[in-house]
Formats: sequence, structure tokens, C-alpha cells
Amino acid sequence: MIPLRVLALFLVAIFWHPSRVESVVRHYKFSVVRKNITRLCSTKPIITVNGKFPGPTLYAREGDRVIVRVVNHVKDNVTIHWHGVRQLRTGWSDGPAYITQCPIQTGQSYIYNFTLTRQRGTLLWHAHINWQRATVHGAIVILPKRGVPYPFPKPDKQEIIIFGEWWKSDVEAVIKQAMKAGQPPNVSDAHTINGLPGPVANCTSKGYTLHVETGKIYLLRIVNAAVNEELFFRIAGHNLTIVEVDAMYTKPFQTDTIFIGPGQTTTALLAADQSIGKYLMAISPFMDTIVATDNQTATGILRYKGIAPFSTTSLTSMPPRNATPVTSSFMDSLRSLNSKTYPVIVPLKIDHSLLFTIGVGVNPCPTCVNGSRVVGDINNVSFVMPTTALLQAHYYNITGVFTDDFPGNPLIPFNYTGSTPQNMQTNNGTKVYRLAYNSTVQVVLQGNAFVAPESHPTHLHGFDFFVVGNGVGNYDPENDPKNFNLVDPIGRNTISVPTGGWTAIRFRADNPGIWFLHCHLEVHTTWGLKMAFLVENGKGPNESILPPPSDLPKC
Ligand code: C2O
Repeated sequence: MIPLRVLALFLVAIFWHPSRVESVVRHYKFSVVRKNITRLCSTKPIITVNGKFPGPTLYAREGDRVIVRVVNHVKDNVTIHWHGVRQLRTGWSDGPAYITQCPIQTGQSYIYNFTLTRQRGTLLWHAHINWQRATVHGAIVILPKRGVPYPFPKPDKQEIIIFGEWWKSDVEAVIKQAMKAGQPPNVSDAHTINGLPGPVANCTSKGYTLHVETGKIYLLRIVNAAVNEELFFRIAGHNLTIVEVDAMYTKPFQTDTIFIGPGQTTTALLAADQSIGKYLMAISPFMDTIVATDNQTATGILRYKGIAPFSTTSLTSMPPRNATPVTSSFMDSLRSLNSKTYPVIVPLKIDHSLLFTIGVGVNPCPTCVNGSRVVGDINNVSFVMPTTALLQAHYYNITGVFTDDFPGNPLIPFNYTGSTPQNMQTNNGTKVYRLAYNSTVQVVLQGNAFVAPESHPTHLHGFDFFVVGNGVGNYDPENDPKNFNLVDPIGRNTISVPTGGWTAIRFRADNPGIWFLHCHLEVHTTWGLKMAFLVENGKGPNESILPPPSDLPKC
């Protein structure tokens, strides 16, 4: 006979598992409403969630289920994307309009329902239709499971710091006018830190203030929700210790400058260990080519408790706009934590080895200003948005919406980073690349030099990928793989492909569905620098996409 006590312990051991008792359901309501907001001393109506700009923070723990009811009270169509959330088998809740769902129409609602699996840290949510994410965005905080510590010193306090861009005019009008002309849209009028530009020429508005106390440690959850700009971030007199990016822990490293692309998140420890005072924090754009940027520096203040009134602020200079070395040294310093508790498993055997050239091209346009329009493309295909969501077309076998002949390699290889070719015309199409369940994929994202080589913060939905290598110039399939980091490469969902260079990423296609890949500079997405992967269902019990929810919006 087994003694009762042993049996009881045995049963507890079987059934008591943190993931079993821990999962909680978190309910949120997002009311999409218009609101008048004043910035840069001028007022305009913007689309918001719950009247907030930036929007509300979504808090949950690893393993939790999140249920967000989104109700559309504006005249525009709406969708919300949970940027970086893996959405295992729940592509219906991913959010990109016409890719995984039809938009939520005026007066309608939709319930996003997903589980946060094996992710912890900071992510963001944002609207995923037109340019709505300029004002419809917020942070997602995924805390560790209850009782599980951070793999770094416990912070005394946490702060969310969201970067954005502000246009005085209506953002949809800005891009609409640009598309009509076939030319780049106007750059923004200001950058913002937690919605505030700080004092700028001709308008002395207050900026964001981060209040700190001497001796305490702060966890800064930094989100770049800007529309078209990669940014530098600095705090005068203080270093930051990076501990996590895109909801994956990193080996901690110290830096005085953060480089962050739109869609990326960076979590850093800040020690309030300087003399009591006020310290400037600032963001400024990065651009190492001839493309125009909004060159306004947005500022905020780090303010110590007990500071004497009227004390002056310690200033910091920002890196020059074209400080490529600052970006590469930041990116090269990022390594996965790869600890016993948080190991990384990099695919070593690759089933699909792909080369995607990314950039902008020029297509004829008789009605445009120069008789041509700027377009974006991947492997010379400018993606055409369908009018039926791809995921529905896939799930219900609706033909005529997309084709699965997206080229895995350039059809005509050329010197990608050489001089500008004569013919920069692209093809149009709604093409996906098909992957069998659980196949392994390497994509070399190769920037091209059409019009201008440019850094492209490239985002993949539905997966975290490993950044195994990068370089300048053309990718060399013979020699470059010899230098790949297959031990502790950083895991990300968005990576900046260097200007006139390449980045190699790897992932396992273990999530069935349709997954968008695009440049997270919204202007490039609009121009067609986007494609999608179709990941087939597997044969196992939990390897198929779940059925669509009954309230899935109709087109
Ligand atoms: Cu953050 Cu497809 O986007």
C-alpha cells in the first residue's frame, strides 16, 4: 500500500504546476472615440482609445488570457494589433486589417481573445489600419508569473515611456495627399514622449516628467510608437542597463544611448544614483541617408525628489542624425539571456532559405506630380491589399484573394547595394509564401539601393525570430554564415535592417495562420513594402488554427 501522504504529494506534484493555477483572465474594454487634443499650441480631433493619448496600458502576467472588447465609436474603420504577441493559433486576434480580419466598422465591436505564452516584458498595441496608429497606441506589460522573479535586480518602481510623432494636421489627410501626388508624405511636426513634445520653438508647453528618488532603481519600459522614425534616446548624466527587448530577456548591458525603431520595445534599469537635480531626457531621429525626417528633439525631465526650486537642468547632446555607428554598436550589444531558465533554441537546420530584397521603387503614374509614384516592395513585388482578409480566404478556401507564389528569392539577381538601376519598376500582387507547419526558415533581409538605401525596421507578426547576423553591402551566402551567432542571438519581432546592408533572421513556423511581414515605417507599409507567410496546419492535436470567433467582422 502506498501511504496516503505520499499519494497526496504525488497528486499535488502532478496537478500543481504554476501554469495550471496561475492563468488568469484579464478583461479590458477599448472604446475607440474621437477627442480634441492640443499639442504645439494647436488643437485637432484625434482617434483615441478611451479618450487617452497615449492609450491605456494593458497589464497581464505570462500565461494569462487577455480579452479585449473593442467598440468602434468613430466614423473610420478600426482594428487593433497586439504587436509582438505570438497569437499561437489565434491569428483571428492579431489585428492587421485585411490580413487577419476585416476592420471593425462604425458602431460595431469585436472581442480580441489571446493567451500570452512564454513572453515576458514590454510590448505595444496599436491600430493596424491606414495611419491610425499615430494616435491609437499604448503599452502592453507582461509581468512574470506570480512568484517568479525577474532575472535582474528587482526595481523599486516601473515607468512606461512611449515615443510618438505628432502632426498638426490630420494624419490620414497627410498620407492621402501624398499618395495622390505619388510623393513622400510630410514629416511630423514634433516627436513626443508619453504624448508630450516638451517645449519647442514658438510653443512652450510642458514635457513629460519622470519623478525619481535617490538610491532607487526604476524599470523603464520604453516603446517606440512613432509612425515613420527610428529614434535615439538619452538621459543626461545617466546610463541605462538594458535587460529585455520585444518581451525577451537579454544579457544585461550598459549604454548611454538607446536606439529604437518603430514597433520595438526596450526595457532598461535606471539607477537614481546621481546628485539631486533635474536631468534632460530626449529623443531625436536616426537617418543615415538622404531621406527627410522630423528633426525636432522632444524633451522631458528626470527630476529627483528634494530638488531645490529653480535649479537648472543638466543637458545632454544627442547623437548626430546620421550616427550609424551608434545604431550598430547598440544592436551588436544585444544578446539573448540564454540562461537555464530562459534558454534559446535557434533553428540550426534550415528548410527554407530565403532572400528578400527590401526597398522602394518607382512606378509610372500618369496622374501623379512627376508622372511616377514611389512604391515599396519585397523581391520586386509591391503588395496589393486585398478586400477580403487573407486569413478568412485561407481558412474557408476562398479563391481569387491571394496567390501563394511569393518569390523566396529575387527572380533576377542584381547588385542590390550598387548604383541605382535604370529600371526601378515593381510588380503588383497579393502573394504569400507558403510554409509547412514546423518548418524552419531563414530570411536574409537585403536592403536595396533603389532611390536611396535606407534602414528598414522590419516586423514579422506571429513569431519571435533570432537575428543571427547582419552586415553592410550584399549578403554573401558563402562566407557570411560562417560568422552567424547561433548561440545567443537576440530574439526580436522587429529588426532594423542596416542602410545598404542585410540582416539574417531565423524562426520555426510553429504557428499556423497568415502572418504579415512589413517595414514598420508606416509610409513604407503604405507603399507596399509588405508580404505575408501562410503557415499550414500541422497534423497534431494543437497544431491547427482555431475556428474564427462568431463576432469576426465582415468586410
Ligand atoms: Cu506593429 Cu504589422 O505592426
